[in-house]
Amino acid sequence: MNVLGIESSCDETSVAVISDDRLKANLISSQDFHKKYGGVVPELSSRAHLQIITPLVRDALAKSDLKLNDIDLVCATAGPGLIGALLVGLTFGKALAYSLKKTFIPVNHIEGHIYSGFLMDDKPEFPFLSLVVSGGHTLLLLVESFMQIKKLGSTVDDAAGEAFDKVAKMLGMGYPGGPKIQNASLKGDPSRIKFPVADLREPYNFSFSGLKTSVLRYIQKNFPDKNIPENDLADIASSFQNAVTLALVKNTKRALENYDVKTISLAGGVAANSFIRNSFIELAKTYDKKIVIPDLEFCGDNAAMIAFRGQKLFEAGMKYDLSYAPFPALKEDQYSGS
Ligand code: KG4
Ligand code: ZN
Repeated sequence: MNVLGIESSCDETSVAVISDDRLKANLISSQDFHKKYGGVVPELSSRAHLQIITPLVRDALAKSDLKLNDIDLVCATAGPGLIGALLVGLTFGKALAYSLKKTFIPVNHIEGHIYSGFLMDDKPEFPFLSLVVSGGHTLLLLVESFMQIKKLGSTVDDAAGEAFDKVAKMLGMGYPGGPKIQNASLKGDPSRIKFPVADLREPYNFSFSGLKTSVLRYIQKNFPDKNIPENDLADIASSFQNAVTLALVKNTKRALENYDVKTISLAGGVAANSFIRNSFIELAKTYDKKIVIPDLEFCGDNAAMIAFRGQKLFEAGMKYDLSYAPFPALKEDQYSGS
């Protein structure tokens, strides 16, 4: 079976091909031009998706040694994400499936991230704890099977990636902030500044807005002219990254104590962070659990995870009629508030 996956929910256009359960292509085109605006500009994002999607599909097929007609199943991200951006990939995918007379499966972007560990050789074992940390979401989930996901907690304000982006902006580092903070923190002391780690009544929920404000106050108090020496910059970045990590580890630890899982799996753009990756490898060792963290190419937004998730839904018997509403009903509630 040849599966074509399409992802266009934010600022990455991606097309992937999975052939007989083997990933043949996972092309990702990142819209770097948003950097100069300090964040993603939705309209520009939609236009860029529109320009690149056709050549990307052509290249992915060529890389997989396949023709359009060889595709058996088309899957595209249907949400959550930027509406205009989503519409490009979703409409392209639906039209392609219609013209080829093949099945179309809409995929929830978050579910794509949740199961992205299955793109690795060493796969998660059910039941597993999934921590999805991206620019839009911070979710802790108990994943019992390909069809059963229980949300344990989510952020009540900013997502972890959003906090990275906002703090990087305060420090004058630019967008996207995650990689910049990680880089700056390499020479920093993670324990120099004790930034707050929120402890909420709901044991699995997260909050990063207090942390973000605390970094802002620290900068305003100590560097009112915004002139931050390099070693201080490194310590702020490192201490902030440490506080985010402590918050993620704290709730995961709680879940490990209350749920009998086999694996811990990290996913989403923030899972690319090496400090967070190492902390979770240590956590898994302490609790004697398997840890699966996807390679960097599968942490950020990518179509391989969409093709994989779509194929699993298809195998489970999911049907989607192309005449349905443009945005198929997604179980948004399950992941909202995140
Ligand atoms: O999953 P993703 O590519 O897109 C969304 O679905 O949001 O995640 C993007 C987020 C951004 O906030 C970015 O700053 C963050 O992932 N990110 C990182 C790192 N690389 C990307 N955060 C921390 N450390 C990194 N190395
Ligand atoms: Zn994502």
